[in-house]
Amino acid sequence: MTDYHDEQPTVLVLDFGAQYAQLIARRVREARVYSEIVPHSISAEEVERRRPAALILSGGPASVYAPGAPKMDTRIYGLGIPVLGFCYGMQLMALDLGGHIPDTGVGEYGFAQLTVLEPECALLAGVPETSQCWMSHRDSVGTAPDGFIVTARTAITEVAAMEDPSRRLYATQFHPEVAHTESGQQIIKRFLHEIAGIPPVWTMVNIIDETVDRIRQQVGDGRVICALSGGVDSSVVAALLRRAIGHQLTCVFVDHGLLRLDEAEQVVRTFRDQFRVDLVHVEAEERYLGLLAGVTDPEEKRRIIGEEFWRVFFEEATKLKGVKFLAQGTLYPDVIESGNKSAAKIKSHHNLIPFPEGVHFDLIEPLKALFKDEVRAVGSELGLPDEIVHRQPFPGPGLAVRIVGEITQGKLETLRRADAIIREEIGEWDKERSVWQYFGVLPDIRSVGVMGDERTYGHPIIIRAVSSADAMTADWARLPHDLLARISNRIINEVEGINRVAYDITSKPPGTIEWE
Ligand code: XMP
Repeated sequence: MTDYHDEQPTVLVLDFGAQYAQLIARRVREARVYSEIVPHSISAEEVERRRPAALILSGGPASVYAPGAPKMDTRIYGLGIPVLGFCYGMQLMALDLGGHIPDTGVGEYGFAQLTVLEPECALLAGVPETSQCWMSHRDSVGTAPDGFIVTARTAITEVAAMEDPSRRLYATQFHPEVAHTESGQQIIKRFLHEIAGIPPVWTMVNIIDETVDRIRQQVGDGRVICALSGGVDSSVVAALLRRAIGHQLTCVFVDHGLLRLDEAEQVVRTFRDQFRVDLVHVEAEERYLGLLAGVTDPEEKRRIIGEEFWRVFFEEATKLKGVKFLAQGTLYPDVIESGNKSAAKIKSHHNLIPFPEGVHFDLIEPLKALFKDEVRAVGSELGLPDEIVHRQPFPGPGLAVRIVGEITQGKLETLRRADAIIREEIGEWDKERSVWQYFGVLPDIRSVGVMGDERTYGHPIIIRAVSSADAMTADWARLPHDLLARISNRIINEVEGINRVAYDITSKPPGTIEWE
C-alpha cells in the first residue's frame, strides 16, 4: 500500500501531462491536506470508490482541440465533489460543460496582471483587486458555460477565472501552484479549507504516527534489514523503522571509503550512539581501493562500486538469521515517474535491487507516499541532525566520480580536505541553502606554480557549485569573488599538493553537475 486515502481526507490531482500535477500535489500537501496524483482517464466509478474530498484538474501541454488531447470522464463533474481546474483543466471544464474556446491565435506566457472582477466570489475572496499571476497558455475560454460567473481577467485573457458554486466547480486560467502567482497558495488554501471544507490535518506528527502504524502492521514480529548510506532517504527510513519496530531492525552501513570528511563517523555516531540502532558497519575501504586500482573509466568505476556494494550488503544480510524484510527509501516522485508512462522524461527506477540467486526479502517502502521536503521534515521531527536532514545529493559511488582518473588513498585524502573547506566556506555564506550542491573535484592534471622560492608541480582543485531545482538542469552559482578568493587561499595553504584552484562555470546542459 502506498497511499493514505483510507485514513486521510484526500485530494486527487488529475494529471493532464507535463510536470504540473506533481507541483500541485506538493502545494496541496503544504496546505496540510493529503493529495495523490491519478491519471486523467480515471473513471467516475473509481473516483466515487475513493471518496476524495476534492479534485484538482492539472494543466497540460496540449491544446484542447489537438487530436488525442487528454479528456476526462464528464460524469465526474456531476458527483457533487468540489472540482478546481487550472489552465488546461479550466479549458476542458469549459468545453465539457458548454462554454466556448475561440481560436484567437493569441497566447499568454509568463507574468500577467490579474484583476479580480467579483471580490465577493467564493474562490478569489481576499485576493487583492490586482496582483501578479503566472500564465502559460495559447487557448483560452471566450465564453464561460451557463451557470458560471467570470471572476477575474487579465489584459489578454477575458476569462482568467470562473466558478459555479451551486455545482461546486471552480477554475483559473493562471497557475496558482506556481510561486510567481502572488496569491496562488492562498487560493489553493481557500479552495481546500473553506470551499471543500477539508481541515489541515496532514501534519508531521500525523504522518509519522500513521507511517509507524503501517510499518507495524506489515512487519508484525518479523525482522527488517536496511541499507544505510547516510543519505537523507535511507536515514529517515532507518529512524522511522527504529521508532516503529525498535530492535527488530538491523542496519547495514557499507562504508566504501569514498565518503566525505567525517561522514562515516557521523553515520555511526547518529545511528549507533543516538538512535541505538543495531548497526553493522562494514569498513570496506581497502577492498574497494584494491578493486579500483588502475581503473580510470568513469562507467567502469560506477559498475565496480555498485556491484561490490550489493555483494557486501547481501553477504552481511544473509549472515543475519530470520530476516524477512528489506527496507528502502523509495519516494513518491520515484513512484510517479516509474508509473507514469506518458511523462516526457522517464528516469529508470534507481532503487531496483539486484537480489543474488536464491536470496529474497519482501520490500518495505515507508516513504513511498512522501515528497522530499516531507521526508526531510519527518527526519527533523524524529531527531535526525541537520547535517543529515539537509544533506546535499551525493552520488552513490561517492568521491570516486569526483576524482578524475585512478583513485588512490592519497588522492582521496587530498580531495576530502579540499572539499571540506569548500563546504565549510560556502555553507557559512549560504545560510538559506540557496545553492543546490557544492563540492570539490580533483582532476588528473598537474600544473606549474611557485610557492615561497620553490617551483611547484601540483594538482588543481576545481570548485563546482550549482543552482538547480531538480538536478535535471542547473546553472553555475554566482558566488561572490571574495568567497571564491577565501576558498582558494585556504585550499592552497591548507591542502598539501594543491597549487591552483579553478571555478567551473559550466551550466547543465551542456555539462553535468558531477564531473564523471
Ligand atoms: P549529473 O552529474 O548527472 O547529476 O548532472 C545529477 C544529480 O545526480 C547526482 N548523481 C548521482 N546520484 N548515484 C546517485 O545516487 C550516481 O551515480 C550519481 N551520479 C550523479 C548528482 O550529484 C546530481 O545531484
